[in-house]
Amino acid sequence: MNQPWNSGYVADIAYIEGFYVQQSPARMALACLFGNVAADLPEPDDPATYLELGCGCGIGALVTAAANPGWQVTAIDYNPAHIAIGASLARAARLDNIRFIEGDLASLATSAQADTIPQADFVTMHGLWSWVSNEVRAGIVRLLAAKTRPGGMVHLSYNALPAWQGALGMQRLIYETGIRSGGRSDTQAQAGLALARDLKAVESKYLTESSLSRDLLDTTVAMSTEYLSHEYMSAHWAPAFHADVVAALAEAKLDWVSSVNPMENFPELMLTAEQRDIMNRYKDPLLRELIKDMCLPRQLRHDVFVRGARRIHNEARDAALSGLTVVPIVSPGELQTKIRVPAGMAEVSDKLKDMMVAAMRGPATVGDLMALSSERGNPAELISILVGSHQCQVATRSNGEQPDAANRLNRVFGSRVHSIVDAKTSGGLASWRLGTGLTAPPLLQFMAARLLSGEREDNADAWIKALSADVIPEKHDTVRNVVHTAIEQRLPILRQLRIVPD
Ligand SMILES: C[S@@+](CC[C@H](N)C(=O)[O-])C[C@H]1O[C@@H](n2cnc3c(N)ncnc32)[C@H](O)[C@@H]1O
Repeated sequence: MNQPWNSGYVADIAYIEGFYVQQSPARMALACLFGNVAADLPEPDDPATYLELGCGCGIGALVTAAANPGWQVTAIDYNPAHIAIGASLARAARLDNIRFIEGDLASLATSAQADTIPQADFVTMHGLWSWVSNEVRAGIVRLLAAKTRPGGMVHLSYNALPAWQGALGMQRLIYETGIRSGGRSDTQAQAGLALARDLKAVESKYLTESSLSRDLLDTTVAMSTEYLSHEYMSAHWAPAFHADVVAALAEAKLDWVSSVNPMENFPELMLTAEQRDIMNRYKDPLLRELIKDMCLPRQLRHDVFVRGARRIHNEARDAALSGLTVVPIVSPGELQTKIRVPAGMAEVSDKLKDMMVAAMRGPATVGDLMALSSERGNPAELISILVGSHQCQVATRSNGEQPDAANRLNRVFGSRVHSIVDAKTSGGLASWRLGTGLTAPPLLQFMAARLLSGEREDNADAWIKALSADVIPEKHDTVRNVVHTAIEQRLPILRQLRIVPD
């Protein structure tokens, strides 16, 4: 049963723990540069402030704090269970630069508590905007107006229209069935999903005509009940058009800049030539974005805003992009040069391929990679392919060792993994060089913790035994293979980033 204070959002079951690299300062800065807006990334030891609204269990905020010990991180959520989880992880890792605040965003901006929240260089909200009431959204805008410093960047993700229009009926059906079925929100979501699946089986028009509804009903079978209840059982869930979100945030003097997903800023990768011709008839960025949204299956938008956009020309943008350092996050053998994009399979040119191969050798500036070719290249294209295809990340610090705080948090994360079957959430490992986290499934968190405690990978048999506790004997060989593959392919990446010692 939900709580009296929940104001329509699910509060009787905690949300899943997750780390999302789109919330990192480097990705916000990259989005600014893609939008021809100046972006100040703090120098390695500069103090900076990072604010997360609707932080859930706070994994992203914890990773940010541990990766940047000189920063001040504030994480806000109204659910005391979430705050208790985040605060207890911060205590276990002895992080002294993160503060978890239990507060309702509907009223926080006008409360005395707001005075204690510093103005932020970076603000992020993931999975919040589309799930809360108009009153909470208005409170968020008030808080953004008060707490984003001039030049500060804001990341906001939300369910987008028109991509979601085909599944509006499905969500409503799940919600209305759920609230009538009683019990906790996870039970309610399952009751709603069961009815939706039954109706789909008898060819309900709106559950079969829409590919989104059809696909969602199939994929939800394997999803965690915590995720499903927060996704479908909010009374106020409302996907939004980009232009409406832009108008709402303008009240906080925030200018929309671009998408945090780099490849989405390249129409050549997203749209067909005919679609681009139509979009190019217009200069208005909002209309161009609407045309993109009409052509792309973009259900979840990740937008970046800035308070006071300082527009820059292409030359200054390219110089800033060329100065960024990228590090590989896949092993050289895994490099993909054929990349699936909405416009089809993009095969990169030979010139770009050479640069991508070079990028796999270790940290390099975009400028150094570009210098490998005598032809004039486009740094935005190179970095958007490397980062957008999840094969590289931007390193905000090109050298330096992991701070103790990062090691402590990574050990805490790994010590919570007791079986490979835990592998449900998308976790992270804090990295000083990345200034954020590396996306890391529980297996990698487990391995990092063991290596940080002084074990070596030749102890793999003991790791396999520990991770197989809940696994049926016939599957033990699979666990063995997964662990050995991770040692071969992932461990060199962890070592290169100094997340674990050599
Ligand atoms: C879908 S979850 C996302 C959590 C986290 N950002 C993540 O991605 O893992 C939405 C979060 O917003 C919080 N929330 C909902 N309404 C709120 C409100 N009025 N004030 C503060 N937090 C709220 C919920 O408790 C929940 O943790």
